[in-house]
Amino acid sequence: MIAEASASDAAAVVALWRACGLTRPWNDPDADFALALATATSTVLVARDGTDAIGSVMVGFDGHRGWIYYLAVAPERRRSGLGRALMAAAQAWLAARGVPKVQLMVREGNATALGFYEALGLERQPIVVFGRFLGGDEVR
Ligand SMILES: CC(C)(COP(=O)(O)OP(=O)(O)OC[C@H]1O[C@@H](n2cnc3c(N)ncnc32)[C@H](O)[C@@H]1OP(=O)(O)O)[C@@H](O)C(=O)NCCC(=O)NCCS
Repeated sequence: MIAEASASDAAAVVALWRACGLTRPWNDPDADFALALATATSTVLVARDGTDAIGSVMVGFDGHRGWIYYLAVAPERRRSGLGRALMAAAQAWLAARGVPKVQLMVREGNATALGFYEALGLERQPIVVFGRFLGGDEVR
């Protein structure tokens, strides 16, 4: 069963992200989860087996494109179609809001994710991503 997360799912979902190697020192996953739920155009979807969170995906719309983040399937539940089902649910969430295109970023070297997205028929984009954190002296 895949459904929108609520605040009470935070600990289980963040634990899943950690177990799947998706967290990084420069990101605060608890804050990321809370902000996605607090923002009208984003959410976190959770797949549950009973009360266990076995998969999740963050999805949002920036006014132009739909974005996917933190796609995670518990290591012992992989290769049974759950990642594909989470992607389908995230894309349905976007399509229901009239979003014309979905895209996502994959960290260099994540061969599993590259194989997965290619198997799902997503196309590599000829794009380099630039970024910076906001709120510091570095903004110019
Ligand atoms: C990527 C991930 C979500 C895939 O979840 P999953 O439930 O195993 O995926 P599915 O079972 O739906 O796989 C669908 C298809 O993707 C492809 N695929 C999945 N894992 C793959 C792998 N390790 N290598 C190559 N292809 C793979 C296969 O074609 C698979 O179909 P098949 O099992 O019938 O051969 C999961 O491996 C994961 O959580 N990885 C760690 C977190 C991560 O890297 N997330 C993506 C961040 S960008």
